[in-house]
Amino acid sequence: MKRCVLTAPAKINLYLEILGDRPDGFHELAMVMQSVTLADRIEISTQPGIAQFTQPIQIQCSHSRVPNDETNLAYRAAALLRDRFPDRIEKLGAIEIAIDKRLPVAAGLAGGSSNAAAVLIGLDLLAELGLTQGELSDLAAELGSDIPFCAIGGTALATGRGERVTPIEFPGPLWVVLAKYRSFGVSTPWAYKTFRSQFSDRYESDPVGLQQRRNRVHSGEMVGAIANGDGTAIGALLHNDLEKVVLPEHPAVAALRSTLAAGTDGNGADVLGAMMSGSGPTVFALLATEVAASALRDRVARTLDDPDLELWVTQLAPDGIIVLDS
Ligand code: C5P
Repeated sequence: MKRCVLTAPAKINLYLEILGDRPDGFHELAMVMQSVTLADRIEISTQPGIAQFTQPIQIQCSHSRVPNDETNLAYRAAALLRDRFPDRIEKLGAIEIAIDKRLPVAAGLAGGSSNAAAVLIGLDLLAELGLTQGELSDLAAELGSDIPFCAIGGTALATGRGERVTPIEFPGPLWVVLAKYRSFGVSTPWAYKTFRSQFSDRYESDPVGLQQRRNRVHSGEMVGAIANGDGTAIGALLHNDLEKVVLPEHPAVAALRSTLAAGTDGNGADVLGAMMSGSGPTVFALLATEVAASALRDRVARTLDDPDLELWVTQLAPDGIIVLDS
């Protein structure tokens, strides 16, 4: 029996700009992605000799909204490797993937994507596949747009569908309050489809124009602020185009964002910035210190006093998936 334990951290988007449509039906994006320390825990165990008698890939997750079947992205990651490297993966025998869910689901935090990336990394180790970073990224991109970033982690620019990832400097030890209403999620396809129906007249279709807009992000103010570790500028430059469709549809999320932005004094003095992550509905606030982040969490909990509201204090993370034990 072999075993590998990994963390699968959440990501937030410090910047998300929708540039245009793609021939594959996805959107052309320019994003700055950032890992945080809040993470699921993934344990992969293998049982040689059992594969031919039982279901070779099993998912165990106690979260009621996470499927334990082949629709789970973690399952699909294992199945993809079995498909590409049948001898090596089958030699491992039965594969059991236990997901200790600490991240909210359908939340805009790439929880499922991060689980899938952890399975790719864990099985690469267990089966000694020796995948290069490029090979891992290509496999990850087949499974979902955010998965290549999740496999790298830290701070990165992401373009194309989101699958073209360029690591950039870590901005430094900023703190994050994440907030989400437990009872609802946002469908990512819905968010992009709605954005297209409302804003496609602004889409860039000229390849030169697209490259210029990508370059504006690559060498733009947000990347400069990150390179300088300037938390105040990063907070002021937070941007997410998908807020334009998700916040009007979900006024409670808009109100939650405003409550975060108001900070602990009601004027936002100690909050560097607040924004929705990905397609939402999680919203986050950036703060300079843990003390300020904990105070904000407590204030938001008191102000909104809603048992459906979940809050987390976490930190920007300089890296992504960590192998804890193998
Ligand atoms: O790649 P992923 O499965 O995470 O994407 C989920 C959905 O989000 C896609 O099916 C698509 O509707 C939308 N999407 C998009 N453009 C992107 C990424 C995602 O339209 N670049």
